[in-house]
Amino acid sequence: MSSNVRPETMERITTEALANAFIEEQIRELRAQIGDKNVLLALSGGVDSSVVAALLIKAVGQQLVCVHVNHGLLRKGEPEQVVDVFKNQMKANLVYVDAVDRFLDKLAGVAEPEKKRKIIGAEFIRVFEEEARKQDGISFLAQGTIYPDIIESDGVKAHHNVGGLPEDMKFELVEPIKLLFKDEVRVVGKALGLPDGMVYRQPFPGPGLGVRCLGAITRERLEAVRESDAILREEFAKNGLEGKVWQYFTAVPDFKSVGVKDGKRTFAYPVIIRAVNTRDAMTATVENVPFELLQHITKRITSEVENVNRVVFDLTPKPSGTIEWE
Ligand code: XMP
Repeated sequence: MSSNVRPETMERITTEALANAFIEEQIRELRAQIGDKNVLLALSGGVDSSVVAALLIKAVGQQLVCVHVNHGLLRKGEPEQVVDVFKNQMKANLVYVDAVDRFLDKLAGVAEPEKKRKIIGAEFIRVFEEEARKQDGISFLAQGTIYPDIIESDGVKAHHNVGGLPEDMKFELVEPIKLLFKDEVRVVGKALGLPDGMVYRQPFPGPGLGVRCLGAITRERLEAVRESDAILREEFAKNGLEGKVWQYFTAVPDFKSVGVKDGKRTFAYPVIIRAVNTRDAMTATVENVPFELLQHITKRITSEVENVNRVVFDLTPKPSGTIEWE
């Protein structure tokens, strides 16, 4: 499947049977393309790279080398889930790279959003390249490119590709889901046996929590983002909002406000809650989250998350706000 154009005759994959047919066909094609060579994949744990990994594990097993880079900007539990699903359950050849200190050291003191993005992107390529050089006999690079990446490159800012590798590492590409739409990728992921939490997850930006820890990232505020995000996700799941709301998350700004706890004055960070719905991420409306639920989440965040004394809800649609805060 080398063409980048989806044939008009290609049926939309909406059922498990259609997904299984797609999987069988891909396994045949991947085996024919890859033969006895080795394939490298940057596995983030997002739905696209996870589906590509699961397909390749079925097709070529141990010839696939998955590299999971933990840059310290992932959501709570994500790196653990990648290791559990792919290494423990699917027995994949998985290299887990703990690059947390490396990323956070590079990002220290950098407040400008686009600079932060550039550092995260460039460092990711560097770490991936180093791991790739340690592997022998890699001939192919697998990528979770999907059809919207090809047809609307200025749509959702997805980072599926490890572009920017040096000249001597220009491997032949393997892109088994490049003609699929997101909903089809999810149906295929489900048929491949991936957990629901992985298949139906909300969009998550490539630079991760890095763009939600506003301004210059500190470990203290990054933990506040990660812990408050985990509480928000848990409460949305418990209250039937998971899968209904398109994207929801917390952000922590780089200023403190005065509060009070146990009769004592506090000086701590606020947490911003954002919950939006959209079709294409170009415009967005704010989800009407029940007030009682917001109060409950506020109570949990202010009592369970360290260095936080206040919670605010972002009422701004896009435009005038963007979905992310930076
Ligand atoms: P904005 O904030 O521009 O976001 O309204 C629209 C969608 O894009 C995601 N987003 C990113 N995704 N790298 C990504 O992979 C990025 O740098 C990035 N910035 C924003 C955002 O989460 C939303 O879904």
